[in-house]
Amino acid sequence: MSEKLWGGRFSESTDALVEKFNASIDVDKRLYNADIQGSIAHLKMMANEGIVTDEEADTLVKGLETVRGKIDRNEVEFTDTLEDIHMHVEDALGKVSGKVARKLHTGRSRNDQIALDVRIYLKEETLTIIKMLKDFQAALVTLASAHKKTVMPGYTHLQRAQPVLFAHHLLAYYEMFKRDIQRFEDSLKRVDVMPLGTAALAGTTFPVNRQFTCDTLGFARVSENSIDSVSDRDFTMEFISHASICMIHLSRLSEELILWSSSEFSFITISDAFTTGSSIMPQKKNPDVAELVRGKTGRVVGNLVAILTTMKSLPMAYNKDMQEDKEPLFDTVDTLKICTEVYTRMFANIEVHTETMRNACKQGFLNATDFADYLVNRGMPFREAHAVAGKAVAFAISQDLALEELSLEQMRSFSDLIEDEIFDFISLDQMISRRISYGGTGYENVAAAVDAAKKELNL
Ligand code: ARG
Repeated sequence: MSEKLWGGRFSESTDALVEKFNASIDVDKRLYNADIQGSIAHLKMMANEGIVTDEEADTLVKGLETVRGKIDRNEVEFTDTLEDIHMHVEDALGKVSGKVARKLHTGRSRNDQIALDVRIYLKEETLTIIKMLKDFQAALVTLASAHKKTVMPGYTHLQRAQPVLFAHHLLAYYEMFKRDIQRFEDSLKRVDVMPLGTAALAGTTFPVNRQFTCDTLGFARVSENSIDSVSDRDFTMEFISHASICMIHLSRLSEELILWSSSEFSFITISDAFTTGSSIMPQKKNPDVAELVRGKTGRVVGNLVAILTTMKSLPMAYNKDMQEDKEPLFDTVDTLKICTEVYTRMFANIEVHTETMRNACKQGFLNATDFADYLVNRGMPFREAHAVAGKAVAFAISQDLALEELSLEQMRSFSDLIEDEIFDFISLDQMISRRISYGGTGYENVAAAVDAAKKELNL
């Protein structure tokens, strides 16, 4: 004889290995608060509609609050026999409130229950993540604000390209995280949908008032179709997808921090508190935090592949495969949160070597484009100017000189449009100052962009 809550039609008890295999309690126990919130709303609705009496609902609501306290204090033992968090809560309620607890599961199913629990959980976590990303943006903007005049080489193909302001480079990340925040904000619309009361898949014969449950739980709207309600995991796939993009932004930043803190670049030093040493090489100070953020991106992308693959061929409606949605989701939430938090703190502990950055701009012909622009300003078509500047660069390389180290005569051998003021024109500060096209790295642009970002963040 089976003692299970669903054991009526079973005459044999579950195989011990199956019990362990089938159970999800180790994973879904973190949903206990959401599960209890959902049950309380369900009871209030049932009392309102006369499905249970006010007295029964009262007893059970108090009982559920007691259960919540017990789980808070680790006083409820979790066991595979009780499968998942829903059964644990119901079982614990039975112990607290007695037989009346058996009325709780009227007009609902674990299928709509789990859909509700995850939505309650994800709404809250998405809001937390948005807040954490804003804190991280604030750290980026604070550093940018201190470096509105710091020049560094901008790169394409990881080759020095044109000078940019360090603040401008940091604000590129500010924009990426802004889009991430917008994606999370937008996805909330699709999370904020209340599935309870659709029961197993077909709706219920009890006169449930789903709008009442929705309002009690503070959801924006009720789901429309009972089959979709218990089958939809789009919101989980969408969240992990947005989280993957966000992690990829963090990973690209990590890669730059790792490069910049190498002896080869020496653009920054990450403080001791955010680096680690080597067990064999006494001189080492490794950017492990940045490497771990880069590495953990793989986990989150893996979680995305896991959830997409799990869902890809599932027929309507609920299938037990869907129990596999929670590990990737929870791991994604945890990973994104810790990576964001650790970077928020690390960014306040980065020392920037402005002189090294500036010196790096002196090698690599970062002023070659401006050399060509100079000729264009004097009437030469850009393509020709590009060729002339290219020849000047080749000549300078052969002399082991920078462009600005050539003499005026040497320059004029490439074009007699060149006059003495070219030296100012191709100087670092003038190159930055002139890039005032909208969104460019000009000093004024960047100062305004820093101000705008501060305003957006209320800094
Ligand atoms: N633990 C299950 C899950 O996470 C809850 C729903 C179970 N429903 C069922 N009919 N077995 O998906």
